[in-house]
Amino acid sequence: MSILAAQFQQLSALLHRTRGDWQLAPFACKALPWPELAPALMAPNEAQLDALDEDDTAALAFLAPFRPDMVAAHDFQLPELKRAADYATPRWSNGIPGRKWAQIRDFAANITTEHPILEWCAGKGHLGRLLAQQDTQPVTSLEWNADLCRQGEQLAGQLTLDHHFVCADALSADAAQWFRPEQQALALHACGELHLRFLRHAAAAGTRRLALSPCCYHLIDGEHYRPLSAAGRQQNLQLDRQSLRLPLQQQVTGGERVRRLRHIELTWRLAFDELQQSLTGSLDYLPLPAFPKRLLSGDFADFARWACEQKSLPVPDSIDGEHWLQRADSRRLLVKRIELVRHRYRYLLELWLLLDRALYLEEQGYRVSLGTFTDRLNTPRRYLLQANKT
Ligand SMILES: C[S@@+](CC[C@H](N)C(=O)[O-])C[C@H]1O[C@@H](n2cnc3c(N)ncnc32)[C@H](O)[C@@H]1O
Repeated sequence: MSILAAQFQQLSALLHRTRGDWQLAPFACKALPWPELAPALMAPNEAQLDALDEDDTAALAFLAPFRPDMVAAHDFQLPELKRAADYATPRWSNGIPGRKWAQIRDFAANITTEHPILEWCAGKGHLGRLLAQQDTQPVTSLEWNADLCRQGEQLAGQLTLDHHFVCADALSADAAQWFRPEQQALALHACGELHLRFLRHAAAAGTRRLALSPCCYHLIDGEHYRPLSAAGRQQNLQLDRQSLRLPLQQQVTGGERVRRLRHIELTWRLAFDELQQSLTGSLDYLPLPAFPKRLLSGDFADFARWACEQKSLPVPDSIDGEHWLQRADSRRLLVKRIELVRHRYRYLLELWLLLDRALYLEEQGYRVSLGTFTDRLNTPRRYLLQANKT
């Protein structure tokens, strides 16, 4: 058994045992689901809860007496991979935001090009363009947004690079045609189904070298995750989209404004839920879809009207915002107490998903490695899976 497979088994056992900690919807809870944790979790006030939740090390120390196995599982950290020697910005990188540029430079620092490159879900192909300049290998960037393809082609043309775009849907049946054995296939921040297809197509074609940094694990076909690896299917955690979102609830600290907006959003979602329960007589939580942040800049009554329309509920003639917001306060605290525990499984769940992808490639005859390719401040999605077929 490979080291990764052994790690996967241990992690699967832990995640199965601790399902009650992470596979639950905090917004739907009416009480703390772990009575034995109540004395500890009820002690901190809201500011203390926020501070703990933002500091992983402190939160793990806080929970260590109650969840020693979960805390110990964090000892397994993926190694730091190579980083770019510098982040100097050439003129052509104008317009690429600083963090994105650092991600691209760090990703590229881990690529040795021996084969033509396929860049999957490339955007404007910034990564492909950097590699086309550094090496002599031709680069093909696949992207479905025609405008991004046009801009990418133009930028490559200005630099007279051997870098071309294929404007195509990565999820279409014929997308497999772009993978070859003598090729290096790359995907930086390809969402769920897009990177699952990337791995399947590359493995089927026997593509020599792969490098993938996955994101948005929940954007898959279907409601439940179907593990890629045989090991994953044996240890199936029955992950629904809500569980697959958990690893993404890890933010680069966004500063005071982002914190304030998060606080308002949480409160307003819960206040609307209180309102809808009184309108419908239901006791069940009614989730709202993702919405633009500008909706949080008006007042709660307007937001509640919008939400009622979204959920096809009759809009009340008058909405007493203060009343519903007050009712949301205690629920918000409950959610935060539950999330203090649930968030401590973000890394473990992401590790499980990464290992499932890694084991799939091992089963397909690849040598696989995992690590972090860039600093946490550049992006929370900083894992890099690399695979070689010899
Ligand atoms: C998160 S962005 C990453 C872009 C680029 N790799 C980067 O890191 O800057 C994902 C890209 O996938 C593209 N995309 C989404 N769905 C696609 C599809 N079905 N086929 C091809 N490209 C797709 C989007 O247009 C977007 O440019």
